[in-house]
Amino acid sequence: MKILVVGAGATGGYFGACLARAGRNVTFLVRPQRLSTLRERGLRVVGLGEAVTVRPELTTATQISAPYDVVLLSVKATALPQAMVDLGPAVGPETVIVPFLNGMAHIDQLNARFGAASVLGGVIKVATTLNEDGDIVRLARFASLAIGEQNGDRSRRVDDLEPVLGGAGFDFTVSADITAEMWHKWVFIGAVGAFTCLMRGTVGDIVAVDGGADFGRRVLAEAASVSAAAGHPPPPAELATTTRTITESGSSTASSLYRDLVDGHPTEAEHILGDLVSRARRLSVQTPLLDLATMHLRVYERRLGEHPSR
Ligand SMILES: NC(=O)c1ccc[n+]([C@@H]2O[C@H](COP(=O)([O-])OP(=O)(O)OC[C@H]3O[C@@H](n4cnc5c(N)ncnc54)[C@H](OP(=O)(O)O)[C@@H]3O)[C@@H](O)[C@H]2O)c1
Repeated sequence: MKILVVGAGATGGYFGACLARAGRNVTFLVRPQRLSTLRERGLRVVGLGEAVTVRPELTTATQISAPYDVVLLSVKATALPQAMVDLGPAVGPETVIVPFLNGMAHIDQLNARFGAASVLGGVIKVATTLNEDGDIVRLARFASLAIGEQNGDRSRRVDDLEPVLGGAGFDFTVSADITAEMWHKWVFIGAVGAFTCLMRGTVGDIVAVDGGADFGRRVLAEAASVSAAAGHPPPPAELATTTRTITESGSSTASSLYRDLVDGHPTEAEHILGDLVSRARRLSVQTPLLDLATMHLRVYERRLGEHPSR
């Protein structure tokens, strides 16, 4: 099966390197600058665990001449509109697209562009980032990918993907309700993102001050209430785990929203928080803390647009 990984960044690079190492037929769709870095250095995974270098097949948008069987979509939400254009020639009638993005709005965008029949749901759990050399840094040992049909059916094509995406060095599961799993991941990432961005610190930094842990619980309760109102109440065990994560003393846990904010980069604020609070409004759920976090990031994004070097 021919796999196209769109984006060789923190997540696409990590999962794609695992698949390439496991002997799967993987090509990365990259832009020119990334192409030259990867040609020069190879795709390197460093940080926790074994350091790995792979020299995968690379392509650019103008070079795609035939459809792929599977597209693993690993761009950030801000890059999605252009990525959908670029990957267009890779999508044929039998192609399945598996998005890695957090949040939910990309599913509607992909359905509108390629048709819902081409799009599976996907949830990745991993903690990776890019360093200044363009290498992928693994920050935690967990790494998993769950996929599933949007309507929850167990389909033949999903069964066919199991031996291709499974057994490649990360946990792989087929979910019976991937939409709920995506919502539950969104609750986690939205809450941790709002919490760490508003307070400009890691979980450990925030819970070290009076009221920090309680603030974390309140942010999480808001995100969970939106998911519940949308028909996907987070399972109590998962909420308990997230509560422990968001209140753990000494924890270095942050979020990519926070990392992008402190590094002065554009963030996925609209996709992760803007969309969450706008769905909350439509569902008549009050989310004052998430609203505050969203406004905080909107002010940051606006200033960034006006003064890109700040
Ligand atoms: N990092 C994590 O630990 C993590 C965990 C779970 C979920 N996620 C989610 O996964 C998604 C991807 O995040 P990420 O951390 O992997 O982001 P990232 O490190 O910024 O990687 C995204 C990559 O996409 C590439 N790209 C953008 N537009 C492209 C295009 N048109 N064609 C080819 N490549 C393109 C970028 O390449 P250039 O070098 O050309 O800009 C970049 O290397 C986000 O929604 C994030 O929230 C991340």
